[in-house]
Amino acid sequence: MTAQKEQWASRAGLVLAMAGNAVGLGNFLRFPAQAAQNGGGVFLIPYLVAFVLMGIPLLWVEWAIGRHGGQYGHHSAPGMLDRLGKSRLLKYIGVFGLFTNLTVAAYYCYIESWTLAYVFHSLKGTFRSTPPTEFFPAYLGQHAGSITSLPPEATIWFVVTLALNVWILSRGLAKGIEMAAKIGVPLLIVFGVVLVVRGLTLGTDAPGVVESPLTGLNYVWNPDLSGLKDFNVWLAAAGQIFFTLSVGMGSIHCYAAYVKKDRDIALNAASAGWMNEFVEVVIGGSLLIPIATAYLGLAAVKGATAGGSGFSMGFLTLPSLFNNWGWFAPVAGAMWFGLLFFAGITSSLAMGQPILAFLADEFGAARAKGALLFGGCTFVLGMWCVWLYPGGSFDEFDFWTGTFSLVVFALLEVIVFAWIFGMEKGWAEITRGADMKVPVVFRYVIPYVTPLFLAVVFLGALVQPEGGDWGEAVRGLLAGKGWSLSAGSVLGKLMHVGDTGGWHGPNGEVTPRMVKDLTRILLSLVFLTCGVLVYVAFRRKERRAS
Ligand code: PHE
Repeated sequence: MTAQKEQWASRAGLVLAMAGNAVGLGNFLRFPAQAAQNGGGVFLIPYLVAFVLMGIPLLWVEWAIGRHGGQYGHHSAPGMLDRLGKSRLLKYIGVFGLFTNLTVAAYYCYIESWTLAYVFHSLKGTFRSTPPTEFFPAYLGQHAGSITSLPPEATIWFVVTLALNVWILSRGLAKGIEMAAKIGVPLLIVFGVVLVVRGLTLGTDAPGVVESPLTGLNYVWNPDLSGLKDFNVWLAAAGQIFFTLSVGMGSIHCYAAYVKKDRDIALNAASAGWMNEFVEVVIGGSLLIPIATAYLGLAAVKGATAGGSGFSMGFLTLPSLFNNWGWFAPVAGAMWFGLLFFAGITSSLAMGQPILAFLADEFGAARAKGALLFGGCTFVLGMWCVWLYPGGSFDEFDFWTGTFSLVVFALLEVIVFAWIFGMEKGWAEITRGADMKVPVVFRYVIPYVTPLFLAVVFLGALVQPEGGDWGEAVRGLLAGKGWSLSAGSVLGKLMHVGDTGGWHGPNGEVTPRMVKDLTRILLSLVFLTCGVLVYVAFRRKERRAS
């Protein structure tokens, strides 16, 4: 075996790497959009409740599973899960920890590459002459009515981004990932603070300003208890907590596997988690929305984020708003997209490392080879997203891998940890070497509250009713009128609710439905392949042992 004995160089480096893992595009693009779509302050309380009842417990569980697995030489989820109990099936739950990282990386690195391209174009001054609303669709190669695109420039930036990832990963844990986090995380915080200060100090008399930025800030930040009653807000809040903390992925496990047996994980996990929340709520929540509110007005901001993601705001709106800032415009653009890039790359590295670790631990693959393989797979899967972007391949990836799989894996792992490994051992694992006193209540939150919370989120997403009115849907069901699924629910998507067409349009052309179905088949094949690799790896091990 050539498994490298890798280690974090310092505790600060570990926490920064974990924070870099969590702090990502989700903090700056997804959070503001989710908050705006879900009524601003209405979103905040379910979000914080989900953080405490689900986010924090999952962080501790994942760090514990990771450090535990690391003692047995496992740095990826299949081997770690295998170590939690006797059943031979447990390792297959860990397949999620390979599958999700690989498939999320594919579309995540594509967005990451846009941010790099935008740093370049901001500095070059492109957005002074070409409005981003024109630039972006051209960049993505979108043509009205076409379902495919092969944009040359976007492809080049994608390859450059992947090459950077591969290079950093191949340098190893301390010299690559830890170094990137030590540079990237502080820089992105500095850029963020500069932009927040600039944005919030915009006076209503400044050119182009139509409303005080503080109105936007107030909208995001003013907690409103009415959100507690809306189940859809809960679903959105839980989904955001997952994505932003990087839980349910297998990537936290991997980083934690390089922590020594008796070293603290309790305080480290809490620190990285809280650092992420600070960057998300305080910086992420004070940037996009207040600046956009200042120039567009709050009503327009709410409208712009409705249904859409934060992408449109981040890539279409903001660069042109910066033009109001005179000489500072290109710098502001470079800072905004630079911070997105640093946030993105410290997260995509976290998706790569579990794959490298799996290949090294189970197949003896050298680091450089593993990194190249990861880059290659990400490129192929990513090109599927690039090529069929207009047909919706990207959104399919985001939903099944970046949203749905996370919940499934988290639910399974917390059950295995609390009920198969057992809370007795589990609690000892979390608290061993702890530099903080973990509140005892979590001993009960982890086995009961967190799984229940996750199960409710899972079921809620599965059968979300049309129109989103749960009260009315339940009354309808009781009155014998059946249940009408929303097209956005998991079952609704599987059954293609609201889409009566087939794979071909009236003129024989390919439809988005075909793209969706093919994307799902592709993702299933990737999952299957990961499963087969795990099977082969363990077979080889058993043979060697006997
Ligand atoms: N947490 C990252 C973000 O907020 C996304 C991510 C998910 C990163 C899973 C790594 C693993 O963008």
